[in-house]
Amino acid sequence: MARLSQEKINEIRQSVDIVDVIGEYLPLEKKGRNYVALCPFHDDTHPSMSISPDKQIFMCFVCGTGGNVFTFLQKYLKISYIEAVKKVAEIGHIDLSEYHLDVASAPVSKKNAELYQMHEEAQKIYSYYLNTKLGLEAKTYLMKRHFSDELIKEFQIGYAPLNQTLYPAFSKLGFSEIDMVKSGLVIESRQHFDRFQDRIMFPLYNQQGQVVGFSGRIYKPTQTDSKYMNSPESDIFIKGETLYHYHQCKEAVKAAGFIYLLEGFMDVIAMYKAGIENTVAIMGTSLTKGHIQALRRITHSIHLCLDGDAPGQAAMGKAARELEKAGFQVSIIVLPDNHDPDEIYEQQGKDGLLQALKKTLKPIEFLMEFEYQKIDAHNYDDRKSYLEKMCYEIAKIKDPIDQDYYIQVLSKQSGFSTDLIHQQIHGMQPQFHQETVASKKKPVHMMDKYQKAEHDLLFYMLNHKNVALKYEAKAGFMYNDQYRIIASYIIDYYRHHNHLEIADLINSIQKEDLVQTVVEIAQSSLPEKYEEQAIDDYIDTIGKNAKRMKKEQLLEQFRYILDPKQKAQILDEIVKLGGQ
Ligand code: CTP
Ligand code: MN
Repeated sequence: MARLSQEKINEIRQSVDIVDVIGEYLPLEKKGRNYVALCPFHDDTHPSMSISPDKQIFMCFVCGTGGNVFTFLQKYLKISYIEAVKKVAEIGHIDLSEYHLDVASAPVSKKNAELYQMHEEAQKIYSYYLNTKLGLEAKTYLMKRHFSDELIKEFQIGYAPLNQTLYPAFSKLGFSEIDMVKSGLVIESRQHFDRFQDRIMFPLYNQQGQVVGFSGRIYKPTQTDSKYMNSPESDIFIKGETLYHYHQCKEAVKAAGFIYLLEGFMDVIAMYKAGIENTVAIMGTSLTKGHIQALRRITHSIHLCLDGDAPGQAAMGKAARELEKAGFQVSIIVLPDNHDPDEIYEQQGKDGLLQALKKTLKPIEFLMEFEYQKIDAHNYDDRKSYLEKMCYEIAKIKDPIDQDYYIQVLSKQSGFSTDLIHQQIHGMQPQFHQETVASKKKPVHMMDKYQKAEHDLLFYMLNHKNVALKYEAKAGFMYNDQYRIIASYIIDYYRHHNHLEIADLINSIQKEDLVQTVVEIAQSSLPEKYEEQAIDDYIDTIGKNAKRMKKEQLLEQFRYILDPKQKAQILDEIVKLGGQ
């Protein structure tokens, strides 16, 4: 079998556009000739990853991660280089069947296979029962709530009967009792029995769309248990990473440019009834880091619409703050009379719901309203503490026009003068400013003039074969270890090519730190065109540096060597090198 040559690897790389591939995983925004995204390789709050369609490389200006399409997939999916190559070949429809690729076959974790299988089976069983006589009353309940058959199918809603169904079925299928209990679907006390009985069943999916748990709802007045019963956490069901409807909403989110973040799955379904599919629900829990990470992968704009009661509103303020801190654009929707989307849909239909969703508040507006209604406006201390709280929030606003606007609003509302508010805010700003600057900036490497000459010369070597040849003929050496190695890769590359593709050069280098340096050099903002004189100057500077280093070395030797004859020889060499 043939070996995968460098040429073939380059062909595979060229079969796709890095923008499309990264676009599958991250929301991209066009900025000039490039695209930008929130960097998934560090805790990014402002889009700092840039993707260049011209050069077919990506780079994060904050954490420095960069490379070509293979590098991205390798890092993002945590796979090996060869797996990344295979994946790209698949996307680009390049047949690799004649190659022997030494990859352990798909790293599917067999560990939880039984748990996934049991959930798949359970979903089928529950779906079946909804359409039997046992499920008739449950089905009637759903009909009353305007669940069409299409909807029931779309959300794979089912029914768990009062009698034992899963336990006997799982036993027949040969699952062990240990695994059954592990799945959370079967409970063990004196004997084994089904956890969910006589409830309408909503499957819960992981981010890949596999069923990993259920939520069961009561449906008749005689049932006095808690309204919803959920699967317990298990090896495959992690609540803090579960967003209802996540795997089904991506297309709609892409089309709309934002997502609705809702409280419960009934709200997701109500929105679906109204034709809105860019939705997910956190299902009554608070927003976790896992949720935020999952959301970041599909959008950077969120319309928050959580429950409107007091704890719901407090949760909304908190969630808004966290999402804004994580770099999302956030709008808040407060529905009339504390209703949820499902209730609005039931009372006012599709148009009523669409109308209600239109009224969005900025988080600061929401916060001002929310905090204001908590205080007694006639009480001076209340108003003072309200003022302080809001100044703190307004100080965080970066846009000076927005900031001025909310200062005016706050002044009118609280009765304190705008001058005072300005003073308050002024005292707070530097602190925020430092915070953002410090967390954003990559430590600046101080480059001396020699290092800068090497760095810039490499930039022109990447772009022009002539420059590389000149370097080879006239200098052939760089003092910086990384730069020297990169220069040799470039020279080597030009032995077989007249034009250098940076994304292909990366294939031949592969070493992570070198790749990052190459990408950083390629992205430096130097003019593409060069003047011969500038190149000569770089080479001259590099030459001088080589001499300077050599001289320092000789002086060092001179100090340690005692033999007068040798000393004289060294001195001679130093003199020959001339004064720098
Ligand atoms: N929830 C839960 N357990 C409960 C109540 C609620 O797990 N006892 C979760 C569910 O995931 C639910 C979400 O919190 O989807 C929102 O709860 P709630 O607003 O009370 O439910 P609704 O979505 O309004 O459901 P319904 O309209 O059927 O009452
Ligand atoms: Mn409801």
